Amino acid sequence: MKRFKNVGILGLGHVGLPTAVGLAELGWQVIGTDNDAPKVALIAQGKSPFYEPELEPLLQKNLAEGRLRVTADVGEAVRASDLLFICVGTPQRPDGSADLSQVEAVIRTVAENLNGYKLIVEKSTVPVQTAQWIKRTILRYASNDAEFDVASNPEFLREGTAVHDFFHPDRIVIGVESERAKEWLLELYRPLNAPIVVTDLNTAEIIKHAANSFLALKISFINMVADLCEATGADVVKVAEGIGLDPRIGKHFLQAGLGFGGYCLPKDLKAFIHIAEEHRVDFSLLKEVERINEARIDRFVRKVQQVLWVLKGKTLAIWGLAFKPNTDDIREAPSLKLIARLLEEGANLRLYDPAAMDNVRRLFPEEPPRLTYCPTPSEAARGVHAILLVTDWEEFRQVDWHQTRQVMALPIVVDGRNFLDPATLQRAGFEWHGLGRPSVYP
Ligand code: UDX
Repeated sequence: MKRFKNVGILGLGHVGLPTAVGLAELGWQVIGTDNDAPKVALIAQGKSPFYEPELEPLLQKNLAEGRLRVTADVGEAVRASDLLFICVGTPQRPDGSADLSQVEAVIRTVAENLNGYKLIVEKSTVPVQTAQWIKRTILRYASNDAEFDVASNPEFLREGTAVHDFFHPDRIVIGVESERAKEWLLELYRPLNAPIVVTDLNTAEIIKHAANSFLALKISFINMVADLCEATGADVVKVAEGIGLDPRIGKHFLQAGLGFGGYCLPKDLKAFIHIAEEHRVDFSLLKEVERINEARIDRFVRKVQQVLWVLKGKTLAIWGLAFKPNTDDIREAPSLKLIARLLEEGANLRLYDPAAMDNVRRLFPEEPPRLTYCPTPSEAARGVHAILLVTDWEEFRQVDWHQTRQVMALPIVVDGRNFLDPATLQRAGFEWHGLGRPSVYP
């Protein structure tokens, strides 16, 4: 049986680039490609088109050592590779279903450039039965003697820790239909020494959507518990600890707050709901998960109103704009809806984020005094009636609160992630309000 030599990565975004760099670092010969030529040119110079910790040094190292090369010629990358990872975008359509046009387009390019057996692996998150469509599409567009297998190998990389997650996966899921596909993928990932789940294609595709939907469900669950805690004087952080130590529940993803954002959880949840509907399965449980998440912004704005009464004419600092820490990604970030709502209420905003400010500025141009972008957290706090903490960047825990208090109009923090230590804030003379936790006053 022929063994593979070159690995092609089709699509160099948040999934494809860390995968390409990771596989090269494991010692494989990798060719990355993307039809966005300026992006490829940037990557060829060792620069990442997005902020992802630890990615750039590894990218530069593997380019320099010749294990990774990139090209804007997708066809060339296909011809040169034995194993192909489909890592193109699968954005959301207005009805919540996945837009698979980029997958179809790249598969047609694969079909037109098939020069011998290839293993085509879908890594982008796709609805169940996509692999069947990939097979059909290749058979339609390739010559009759085309030799190929299709496999599914969903990614579970989190933005902000994608490089770490690549090298330390909790599990690797491999959906295959042939012994050769299985052997190749097992060999590819052997150096990682991770637990491997081998399944059929449809099952692997469902695993990805089920995983992200379950994570979303956990977050919406704890957010409702937070509301109940708030109404009854209990503390959701302690409840999360008390239930999370039960290994059947697990302690992760029980952090109550402004809810989940980002490119994956909201989109995958919607797509999974859509797939269930298409197959006449009543998964209304997930619709509630979504509804609860969408209501978090209102809930937070009401909280700010309870604390400050009238918002019109007040000045507020927003600390954190990225959908989560360690990324500059603002897709579906709670901050965006929050900014729009607070501007509608007539508040003036002073914004700070360590990485995502340029991205937000494109959507909300600077317009002092209504909207001001600030270079540091303490500059954002200048003259404000409250700080609203929206993203849990570690930097916000290192703040000198005594100094910060000096520059504020009122010493108030509303913590949308229950991230800060209320006792520390209290000692520094602050009023602190979280979500689902008792407030503290100086
Ligand atoms: C997610 C999955 O975790 C990952 O496995 C998959 O490959 C891609 O989608 P990501 O979108 O990078 O990763 O973000 P994640 O860390 O899952 O966080 C999603 C959102 O949930 C963030 O907005 C975060 O702030 C929020 N969150 C997370 C909570 O509100 N509470 C929590 O307890 C955890």
